[in-house]
Amino acid sequence: MSKIVVRGGRKLHGEVQISSAKNSVLPIIAGCILNGDKCVINNVPMLEDVFVIIDILKSIGAKVDINKIENKVIIDTEDIKDCMPDSELVKKMRASFLIMGPMLCRFGHFKISLPGGCNIGTRPIDLHIKGLSALGAKINVGYGYVEAFAKKLVGSNVYLDFPSVGATENIIMAAVMAEGETIIENAAEEPEIADLGRFLNSMGANIMGIGTDTIRIIGVKSLKGTTYKPISDRIECGTFMIAAAITRSKFKINGVNFEYLKPIIAKLTEAGIYIEPKGNSVIVDGNRELRHIDVKTMPYPGFPTDMQSQITGLLCTVKGTSIITETIFENRFMHAAEMKRMGANIKIDGRSAVVEGISKLTGAKVRATDLRAGAALILCGLAAEGETEVSDIYHVDRGYVNIEEKFKLLGADIERVN
Ligand code: EPZ
Repeated sequence: MSKIVVRGGRKLHGEVQISSAKNSVLPIIAGCILNGDKCVINNVPMLEDVFVIIDILKSIGAKVDINKIENKVIIDTEDIKDCMPDSELVKKMRASFLIMGPMLCRFGHFKISLPGGCNIGTRPIDLHIKGLSALGAKINVGYGYVEAFAKKLVGSNVYLDFPSVGATENIIMAAVMAEGETIIENAAEEPEIADLGRFLNSMGANIMGIGTDTIRIIGVKSLKGTTYKPISDRIECGTFMIAAAITRSKFKINGVNFEYLKPIIAKLTEAGIYIEPKGNSVIVDGNRELRHIDVKTMPYPGFPTDMQSQITGLLCTVKGTSIITETIFENRFMHAAEMKRMGANIKIDGRSAVVEGISKLTGAKVRATDLRAGAALILCGLAAEGETEVSDIYHVDRGYVNIEEKFKLLGADIERVN
């Protein structure tokens, strides 16, 4: 199992390029099931999770050409069959669920293995089931599978108890060729959902209100292939902003969308970090007296849960008491135990972490417990005195393209060791 070794204490400088958003690309690739045609997706991040969802589509008959030089993926779903996707692949990733809506819409049926447990929380699918059932699906969950049948999908009104990202995406993709109009209220507003909506509309769907909490979908008869470029990854960008802050450095981040970064920028500015937009780049200056702050994760446009472990790492190095409250997932503080091995002073109290900032973290052997926790530990390693070794780095490779190469380009003393 490969690991990343960081020798901390260096200032970072220069520029870094952000990749396209993993959490856009995954539902977009799943959405290719809908049209039985050919789609070209440009600027695709070559991530483990992307390869998993591509292999899932190939396991049901899609033809996929991956061009790693041009970061382009061509997906032909003409020959996709109404069959069960490979269960071992499905269990690798919660986002496998995103094929439920498209399969139901195209074939009126799907059967998929329930993925294994996820370490940041139970990740139920009751809201997915509520939405798909409202459109006319009969859904059974049992024996480790979820299966759905629908003679015909008919548009309906769905009010989501919680603005679930995945449930919103699945209901949209099931509704695009349902008969009549579907309205989703209390829909998730994450930018990646708006990106999926634009992608589907480019295939001929009729979706309105994307990016708001009320989405209207008028079913159409069919969809055709398209060429599409997803938005940039706001969470990767936020991770690099925290890298500037935690190492008290100043550098430029290219290929960003300032609008989508506002919730993250608001919080980092509150902590005293200087962030200046420059076209589709931002200059981040963390080389200043930073302030301790309180953070509460919320659905977009609140502060994103996917940035929680990273900002927790930062606040471990900022004098004073900071309280971080995680309202989205029930078990997303596993990074705390690892950060304490680096000298951090963190007390977990229910859904909150109480952090007493210290002047210097010290390098240690730590373990990535999930994608964003692993990224946060690398950030802590960049700031720590001495050497930090982050193992189980495959978690990080699910969501960050060549993370150590990008930090090396910024001047970090970092390497991947197999
Ligand atoms: C998406 O997961 C993202 N993944 C996650 O990013 C992100 O953390 C999450 O949204 C929240 O923003 C992708 O987009 C591939 P949810 P998803 O459904 O869709 C509860 C990363 O690091 N819930 O909005 O699974 C659920 O238990 C990953 O890139 C139900 O109760 O998130 C959780 O507490 C991690 N019933 C909350 O909602 C349901 O039917 C948020 O889940 C569905 C969800």
